[in-house]
Amino acid sequence: MTTKTDLLLSLLDGQPVIPVLKIDDVAHAAPLARALARGGLRVIEITLRTDAALDAIKAAATVPEAVVGAGTILNAHQFHQAVAAGSRFIVSPGLTPQLLDAASASPVPLLPGAVTSSEIMAAKEAGLDFLKFFPAEQSGGAAYLKALASPFAGIRFCPTGGIAANNARDYLSLPNVVCVGGSWSAPDALVKAGKWDEIEELAREAAKLKVV
Ligand code: 3PG
Repeated sequence: MTTKTDLLLSLLDGQPVIPVLKIDDVAHAAPLARALARGGLRVIEITLRTDAALDAIKAAATVPEAVVGAGTILNAHQFHQAVAAGSRFIVSPGLTPQLLDAASASPVPLLPGAVTSSEIMAAKEAGLDFLKFFPAEQSGGAAYLKALASPFAGIRFCPTGGIAANNARDYLSLPNVVCVGGSWSAPDALVKAGKWDEIEELAREAAKLKVV
């Protein structure tokens, strides 16, 4: 296990679900981070899918009880922007040589996506042993991920994409899964309406899921 994997796992501290967030209004970032943390989901991923994302990361990073990472990082430039905004970990749907160079030169851990055997082997060669499996449901789901456990012993995954309260356990019961990611604990409509209590409740339910 690499030191940066250790760091990422210690940030997670057994949290079974990482909320994957798309924030349109920077004013939502801090109250959303607080609501999720109150519900037990301290570690959150704010995706660079909106113009407000980098400012949202900055705002959420001021919430002491939250551990804020950036998601949907597609290149080295975004990696640096996200780190400068205060991200404590970086999530990417895949891995490129340039992104790998940026991550290798940084103390901030990268959780890169890998689905195929060759992608997993390339990540492993680069010293990365904790990977995102995305898009999980569309790529073959829990059955596919289970089949990777034997050839890729020692590689652990955070599956995301199409995972929600109804199927999270299918993944969390696999030996090679550390946590799952998903947007279900902070649905767009509740965020836009500022329904922080409802989000806190969804987070509380998600936080009860067990990594087996
Ligand atoms: C991600 O980037 O991890 C996914 O887009 C989250 O997928 P979901 O919205 O299906 O949970």
